[in-house]
Amino acid sequence: MVNILAERLANSKPINKDKFKKGATKLYLETYGCQMNVADSEVVISILNKEGFGLVDSYKSADLILINTCSIRDNAEQRIFNRLNEFKHLKKQNKSLLIGIIGCMAERLKEKLIEKEKLVDLVVGPDAYRSLPQLVQKAESGQKAVNVLLSREETYAEISPVRLSKNGVSAFVSIMRGCDNMCSYCVVPYTRGRERSRNPQTIIKEVQELIDNGYKELTLLGQNVDKYNWNNGSVKFADLLEMTAKLDPNLRIRFSTSYPQDMTDEVLYTIAKYDNICKYIHLPVQSGSNAVLKRMKRGYTREWYMDRINAIKTIVPDCSISSDFIAGFCSETEEDHKDTLSIMKLVGFDYSYMFKYSERPDTYAAKRLDDNVPDEVKSRRLKEIIELQNYLSLVSNKRDIGKTFEVLIEGESKKSSERLFGRNSQNKVIVFDKKDSKIGDYVMVKVNECSSATLLGEIVDN
Ligand code: 5AD
Ligand code: SF4
Repeated sequence: MVNILAERLANSKPINKDKFKKGATKLYLETYGCQMNVADSEVVISILNKEGFGLVDSYKSADLILINTCSIRDNAEQRIFNRLNEFKHLKKQNKSLLIGIIGCMAERLKEKLIEKEKLVDLVVGPDAYRSLPQLVQKAESGQKAVNVLLSREETYAEISPVRLSKNGVSAFVSIMRGCDNMCSYCVVPYTRGRERSRNPQTIIKEVQELIDNGYKELTLLGQNVDKYNWNNGSVKFADLLEMTAKLDPNLRIRFSTSYPQDMTDEVLYTIAKYDNICKYIHLPVQSGSNAVLKRMKRGYTREWYMDRINAIKTIVPDCSISSDFIAGFCSETEEDHKDTLSIMKLVGFDYSYMFKYSERPDTYAAKRLDDNVPDEVKSRRLKEIIELQNYLSLVSNKRDIGKTFEVLIEGESKKSSERLFGRNSQNKVIVFDKKDSKIGDYVMVKVNECSSATLLGEIVDN
């Protein structure tokens, strides 16, 4: 699943405001959680835009506030409740203001959200966004407006998302929805429903529109992209990758998230075949212990995972690899934890997203397993995982010193307006002096220095 990260919190800022009608109902939308939620917010804006809603930068002037939410860990939900509290005073000032919770928390908590949080007027799950305009009307008339029906078909296939990306360079394209993996700790199958793939023609059309609008990079999104399957196998993920890669050699293709059980050699050969398919795979392992993987119901073993890593290293030798880890899952022993540290070293991950286990209501683990690792042990194990990853990232970055990479420029460096940053194919961030280059350009950058998080370099001639 997403790299699907509450940590990659996205606060959506509107662009393209000229697209919105004058005098429109003012919509303020905040997005939390994974990249999929960002893509969904873009669909939501598109749906509401057609009905005369215009996006505003500040919640202070809004008529409708929507929060696209995440349930992946308890702290993701707490963050939303805190945010709601901050909106309380607004309702006193503006009696007609409507506040809606959409996305995963809406799906998980349903009507309870309206009952618990008096200030919530609308609750709309991830498969019900087409009904948003009617639900807003209903809420305006003072009725409860809830739609949390999950669908087996909805992919918002033909809706043209209104892009939130600030730089106009990279965009997300959703290729499937839902998840059938049923990992025992995970809330996603309950919040996003059954797995379904989007019609490839509509995907290609959307990608072509991005190319026509000057976008240079896209990320194909799904909870498990390796399960992409249209029309009983007539288009699989490797085919879709190839179809998008062929559209324009100057368009970079990324994808997220891959699943160890399902990632085929065919996909790896396709990645190797096309220069514009980025050499970066996010392949979450979660734990290095077979006993824990079994309790997590991940469906693969440590040995299987290592086989996939070896396949990547053989077929796509310059590929970088990242992972997700959960520290302190039910009954995790010190030995299990050591297995996690050892698989990290064995693979030499370039990057990882690391979390403490957080029990989610109604999951298999919540119902059948004991969340029995004390919090201080979870914290200590997480700290050890983070420290090891920082070390591995530094080793990986040091290997790049002296190398030259093609970098797609995404923006100005936070520290200096004289410097720009971008990513190489391996998804590493590189900072360098501007010279004559600008956002959206491809430049060749030679790496001179690094930290565990960033590479520093200079533009060189090809
Ligand atoms: N507790 C902690 N981390 C979780 N993740 C998913 N569910 C949980 C949970 N209950 C992590 C996994 C997943 C990433 C997106 O979030 O590592 O890959
Ligand atoms: Fe994304 Fe929903 Fe999972 Fe959060 S719970 S990471 S929003 S799919």
